[in-house]
Amino acid sequence: MWREAIAHVLISEAELRARVQALGEAITADYRGRQPLFVVVLKGAMIFFADLVRTVDLPLIVDCLSVSSYGAGWVSSGVVHIQKDLDESIAGKDVLIIEDIIDTGLTLHHVLPHLAARHPADLKICVLLDKRARRRVALPIKYRGFELPDSFVVGYGLDYQGQYRNLPFIGALRPELLRREPPVSKG
Ligand code: IMP
Ligand code: MG
Repeated sequence: MWREAIAHVLISEAELRARVQALGEAITADYRGRQPLFVVVLKGAMIFFADLVRTVDLPLIVDCLSVSSYGAGWVSSGVVHIQKDLDESIAGKDVLIIEDIIDTGLTLHHVLPHLAARHPADLKICVLLDKRARRRVALPIKYRGFELPDSFVVGYGLDYQGQYRNLPFIGALRPELLRREPPVSKG
């Protein structure tokens, strides 16, 4: 059982459900009368995204972006590679980026100008988890699910070395499972 790899649950399924519902209601109210384009940042945000869109009562459209950041250590390097770009033009659209977690902020710091250069009408960020204490660059976050302490978390889409994305809660891995060598972020 993957659950045995978890030292403790940080955010339960019920807490996730309630917070995602509240975010969806806020987004629904803020974008009323508009058709936002939700951009899911793969792979980590896919479960959050799937739950979130079903709480939003708007004629939204979706696209996806896949990025990798390769770090020399546990911190992302800021060297971000766009592995899969958006399919459609975002010019003139109200774009809402849906991300799983913001840690140093370097990944989105790289992605934002890349999208802004395509002249969207609006460009905002919605993130489930915010490790604010570790931020290295300022980012304008419009919607935030939870603030987290500085710890490595998995579940609800987030991975460690590709695993644990399917856990239905956010948990801290047992420390003995965190290898000494740095993980490669797979988004
Ligand atoms: P940043 O560029 O440092 O903000 O990190 C962004 C990316 O690193 C996230 O989108 C995740 O893919 C990954 N990441 C950061 N912290 C965690 C964590 O605690 N668990 C799993 N992935 C993480
Ligand atoms: Mg991510």
